[in-house]
Amino acid sequence: KDEIVILGIESSCDETAAAVVVNGREVLSNVISSQIDLHKLYGGVVPEIASRKHIEKINQVIEAALENAQKNLDEIDAIAVTYGPGLVGALLVGVAEAKAISYAKNKPLVGVHHIEGHVSANYIEHKELEPPFLCLIVSGGHTHLVVVKDYGKYEIVGRTRDDAAGEAFDKVARAIGLGYPGGPKIDKLSKEGDRNAIHFPRGNITDAPFDFSFSGVKSAVLNHLNMCQMKNVEIKPADIAASFQESVVDVLVTKTIQAAQHLDMKTVVLAGGVASNNGLRERMNEACNKQGYKLFYPSPVFCTDNAAMIAAAGYYEFMNGTRHGLELNAVPNLKI
Ligand code: KG4
Ligand code: ZN
Repeated sequence: KDEIVILGIESSCDETAAAVVVNGREVLSNVISSQIDLHKLYGGVVPEIASRKHIEKINQVIEAALENAQKNLDEIDAIAVTYGPGLVGALLVGVAEAKAISYAKNKPLVGVHHIEGHVSANYIEHKELEPPFLCLIVSGGHTHLVVVKDYGKYEIVGRTRDDAAGEAFDKVARAIGLGYPGGPKIDKLSKEGDRNAIHFPRGNITDAPFDFSFSGVKSAVLNHLNMCQMKNVEIKPADIAASFQESVVDVLVTKTIQAAQHLDMKTVVLAGGVASNNGLRERMNEACNKQGYKLFYPSPVFCTDNAAMIAAAGYYEFMNGTRHGLELNAVPNLKI
């Protein structure tokens, strides 16, 4: 069979998503129902609300994905679903749904690692991209430097010791009153600020050069705000946003390039929500050009959570022979 059609389902956090993808690369449909407006009221994702919203939306989202792709369930070759990491109650909705379809239609079930999905988002728009490559995964919950040796084969070379990059963006955004989710807001506000206005620390881990730490820069922003209040100095949110972003981007770019040099990798790939950050894209582009490396990153819609990336990853897992039974469970802290 030369056309493998995968239905992807994603519900690990605050987007209910379904997509139909052919051969891991051609997106026939990509439906995302975001709960951002709901969680915004609380300044972050409320797990129970997320689960309840997923269960309400999931059937509609899958129906829309099938309809947009002009496919019915009989024409699907397998169902790929995120089973971790993520919020357990949120994951369970997608997993239970995928199992129900798999059982009712007698279709193979493929559990997908959410992070593998983020990496695979790059296969969708970059048909020429193939492993091996070095991937910087930067999302709300994860910051990893990974060598993708082959489809489904990963070697972690660095990780965060504390906050994820996106988490730092969200926390700093909240501190300067920008609301949730903070990443895109800091990205936008940065354009109006001076990135050299304040020097925030670059978290360096001496014994593991490719590991990250973002709790220091976050605390430095909070200290800066306290200092301004105490000394009655005017707080300039745009300068803080730009300087904070500069600190995070500087560390991400420097370590990624150092890792690529060290490992002799000539292709660099970005993945995860923070990969849509304009500062990161620009600076990584400059750095990769200078080194003669190729750089790939997904369009913003494929950077943040979606099900097309889960179907893409699911396709390669399916081709590698991965099959899950109806005992598949959600694994909130699933390791890569
Ligand atoms: O990958 P994702 O959708 O969810 C997780 O798997 O975590 O990433 C969401 C994260 C949030 O922390 C959000 O603030 C951040 O990605 N983000 C950004 C941007 N767009 C989303 N961070 C910086 N700049 C952006 N433009
Ligand atoms: Zn994600």
